[in-house]
Amino acid sequence: MTKVLLFALVSCILTQNQANLIGRCDLAKVLHEEDMDGFEGYSLSDWLCLAFVESSFNISKVNENVDGSSDYGLFQINSHYWCNDYRSHTKNLCQVDCQEMLNPNLLSGLSCAKKIVSGAEGMNSWMAWKLHCSGRPLSYWMTGCRLG
Ligand SMILES: *[C@@H]1O[C@H](CO)[C@@H](O)[C@H](O)[C@H]1NC(C)=O
Repeated sequence: MTKVLLFALVSCILTQNQANLIGRCDLAKVLHEEDMDGFEGYSLSDWLCLAFVESSFNISKVNENVDGSSDYGLFQINSHYWCNDYRSHTKNLCQVDCQEMLNPNLLSGLSCAKKIVSGAEGMNSWMAWKLHCSGRPLSYWMTGCRLG
């Protein structure tokens, strides 16, 4: 009895954690399908590096900032500028509910990320991109990934 319960608990915890994470190559496929390969000059490896340094591929990641805003999802999209979480003033430039940035189908998050990248700063809009991805060799992010 105890063993069964323990097993149920452990597998529940494991699957719960895994459900938040998207595999590197699975994400590459979705990015490819959404035409983000080469979008604004950024490669799939660029997008993978960005998603990794922002969220470690955690689809449901939410991070509260000291200024009262929060960052949502794979690309940690910020609620003061890009989405609305109904908790503070927002420009809501992507015209979207921040909860949609956490949707496992990823579509709203990718579309908002495209909008951000289309701005003058490109991926430099993300501090972590500047620090950890920009100007580095990144093609290894696609190692072993097949898109077709
Ligand atoms: C993903 O992020 C959510 C919300 O921030 C957190 O509760 C969860 O533990 C994270 N998952 C992993 C596998 O780190």
